[in-house]
Amino acid sequence: MKSIRLEINNATSFLAAGALDEVSANVPDAQKALEEQTCPGNDFLGWMHLPSSITPEFLGEIKACAQTLRENCDTIVVAGIGGSYLGARAVIEALGNQFEWLTNDGSNPVILFAGNNIGEDYLFELCEYLKGRKFGVINISKSGTTTETALAFRLLKKQCEDQRGKEVARKVIVAVTDAKKGAARITANQEGYTSFIIPDNVGGRFSVLTPVGLLPIACAGFDIDALVQGATDMEKECSTDDNIATQYAAVRNALYRAGKKIEILVNYQPKLHFMNEWWKQLYGESEGKDGVGIFPAAVDFTTDLHSMGQWIQEGERSIFETVISVENPRHKVLFPHDEENLDGLNFLTGKRVDEVNKMAELGTLLAHVDGGVPNMRVVLPELNEYYLGQLIYFFERACGVSGLLLDVNPFNQPGVEAYKKNMFALLGKPGYEAETEAIQARLK
Ligand code: PA5
Repeated sequence: MKSIRLEINNATSFLAAGALDEVSANVPDAQKALEEQTCPGNDFLGWMHLPSSITPEFLGEIKACAQTLRENCDTIVVAGIGGSYLGARAVIEALGNQFEWLTNDGSNPVILFAGNNIGEDYLFELCEYLKGRKFGVINISKSGTTTETALAFRLLKKQCEDQRGKEVARKVIVAVTDAKKGAARITANQEGYTSFIIPDNVGGRFSVLTPVGLLPIACAGFDIDALVQGATDMEKECSTDDNIATQYAAVRNALYRAGKKIEILVNYQPKLHFMNEWWKQLYGESEGKDGVGIFPAAVDFTTDLHSMGQWIQEGERSIFETVISVENPRHKVLFPHDEENLDGLNFLTGKRVDEVNKMAELGTLLAHVDGGVPNMRVVLPELNEYYLGQLIYFFERACGVSGLLLDVNPFNQPGVEAYKKNMFALLGKPGYEAETEAIQARLK
């Protein structure tokens, strides 16, 4: 089986002699600290050997639950936010037909996402859409108390019970949450929902290969065995000190030390938009702390070449790019001939659309490198479950190593509590009386 590969030459050419070696010298210590669980955040390393520890029996349980949902639902709403949502969406959108939800023939349920915002109109429109539909819900929350998800779940649970009756609702509502604590666990136990556990030692953003990601992905009809196999093979590949994950981690840190403070993840396939979003969360929450951290940004090309392209080509030279490139598309479309040739594009007649896309990619790479933007490429032979499994583990492993090279704890996220504290104080949550008083005084 082929493997995804990493190309770094167009990035290392920007580094001073010895700069990469200086960073790479710390890789063995980072790898050792991860393997021996001696690094900061060592109680959240469950993701490290997760792929190889997943048994066929466990995957069988997930597939059985997915089958029940698929048989009993035309629509499945996945309620979750951050790490409890982005990985599943990234894989489902990367593998799915982007127009299937419009033309759905019933062979797959429509998968929708909720609980990832507090948009009143979003929730209204979702509930309207679900009226009369045979829908089910996967309620995903590790803490079981996240406001966005809890709000959506309250609405969805009630609507599901009202529309489908309590008995059926019990069958089509599934919880993915902590083993013991949190409102989602208590509700699941009280109602008798099928439930899956998010292991204590796997943080949200590293949880896509737990039921958090696997269950929605299986519900959408994708092959979770192949996904896990891809991740397992990459886990093996990453066990040595010199592998594509450690190389990526070292190069991005060397670039950061050389003043490249922003990394832009680029794709040339609209299907990968949510892979960008997943990656942003993984790296943003893992590295942005203690006053340091590469800022993870993302663009979809060629779409964003018509918006962000100018900035990337000629703006402040504080950026580098990492391109996710897919070698072979799944379908074939040829550039059509036009008698009048008003657009002057007949010279492309008969070429694969992907060939045009690839030349846009190469042309952009050369232009950006010429413009002072270091460029790495992560190349996938094709978009399938196996290579996405590899990609997920590659980015996770590189993130762990990279965070340690940066000298931060990559596995905590203390900063995300600040807005919640203010929001609860502003909303007058019981227990927040002192904070409410302080924040109101500040707003006077
Ligand atoms: O990565 C993280 O830890 C976060 O993004 C969480 O996944 C997110 O806040 C959702 O938390 P929970 O699963 O507890 O609802």
